[in-house]
Amino acid sequence: MDLTVAGAAALDRADELAPFRQRFAIPDARLIYLDGNSLGRLPLDTRARLHALLDEEWADQLIRGWGNGWFEAAERIGAKLAQVVGALPHEVLLADSTSVNLFKLCVAALRAQPGRHVIVTDALNFPSDLYVLQGVLQLLGHPPDALRIVPAADGLSVAPAALAAAIDEHTALVMLSHTAFKSGFVHPLAEITALAHARGALTLWDLSHTVGAVPVELHAAHADLAVGCSYKYLNGGPGAPAFLYVHEDLQARLQNPIQGWIGQLDPFAFEPDYVPQTDLRKFLTGTPPVLSLMAIEPALDLLLEAGLARVRAKSMRQTEYLVALWEQQLQPLGYRLQSPRNPQQRGSHISLGHEHALGIDRALIEELNVLPDFRAPDNLRLGIAPLYNTFSELHAAVQHMRTVVLEQRYLKYQQQRPLVT
Ligand SMILES: Cc1ncc(COP(=O)(O)O)c(C=O)c1O
Repeated sequence: MDLTVAGAAALDRADELAPFRQRFAIPDARLIYLDGNSLGRLPLDTRARLHALLDEEWADQLIRGWGNGWFEAAERIGAKLAQVVGALPHEVLLADSTSVNLFKLCVAALRAQPGRHVIVTDALNFPSDLYVLQGVLQLLGHPPDALRIVPAADGLSVAPAALAAAIDEHTALVMLSHTAFKSGFVHPLAEITALAHARGALTLWDLSHTVGAVPVELHAAHADLAVGCSYKYLNGGPGAPAFLYVHEDLQARLQNPIQGWIGQLDPFAFEPDYVPQTDLRKFLTGTPPVLSLMAIEPALDLLLEAGLARVRAKSMRQTEYLVALWEQQLQPLGYRLQSPRNPQQRGSHISLGHEHALGIDRALIEELNVLPDFRAPDNLRLGIAPLYNTFSELHAAVQHMRTVVLEQRYLKYQQQRPLVT
């Protein structure tokens, strides 16, 4: 691999997805943004869509807008998102946050299986997910040890066999982050789903770091449940509503524990008793956040236009390229690869460990116009969004990471951990 500046430029020239970068708002082209795995960039079409939504719909139509597509937006956009996660159109909805959706589906899954109460997860899971699982068990009156957290022996990954050993006849749910937020490790979704089913358990996948970056086939794999956010690789905007997926075979068996009027069979009948919708809409609760919901659609259209297969192929080329740069130029300076070596087993970010990771992160941001993120205790995450990140950016970021260590610029930032990293 040609790891020179010229080599990076040649890779960019050969990149068929390169024109998609122009479809995003990039007010400062010098900023090397490597945090699209936390908050994706703003698509230009989203800006136009939101302006129209404000001026032509909210301002002009007022309450009539609800009859003009707002009310069904959660299902309509959910059906589009279904294409990105290999689901049927009626298996996906946009609502609430990932944590709230996780809560709803977890409680529903446990209540549907009275003889089982154990939840199996792993140490790679996102902390919010663990908090939700702990809260669900407490709420339903189960002991804390009903949560089995399978350790990650190497700190980066968990083998299916280790999960298999934890799943038994008491297990109600196997709940995992499909792509781990720190290491980027990707679980084999179909294999683990089959393994859980063989022992009578359901699966619930958090696809937050997967959706829009790594293809999955939820329906074909017979995955039972899934949730995920839309503000990372889906570029839906800060705090954009999350999604939930329920396999069609399971929809009749599950009930939403947060009952509200939007999930009621006939909300505008204003009946005093709750009767749930007969389809996935029963997992809606309150009034949908129309402005942020609508912002997701142009971003989804952009992704579907690029094609997830091409996005994944470029993502793998780019993470490979970054790993090659790391090996040659960063490893000698104390950076450790904290993501799987095999591109098939990782998502679209690379984690590099360093004893001065927090100071390096701050120096890159404050002094060198590179924006990765930091995950405690020692992880620098370099998120690659193939729709707008270039090979030249990756090359330049690595040179800056060398500078920070060679010039010990991290020393200045040792004690500063900002509110959001
Ligand atoms: C893997 C994963 N799960 C869950 C969440 C929490 O999502 P939310 O804040 O939408 O509840 C995040 C947030 O970054 C995440 O990365």
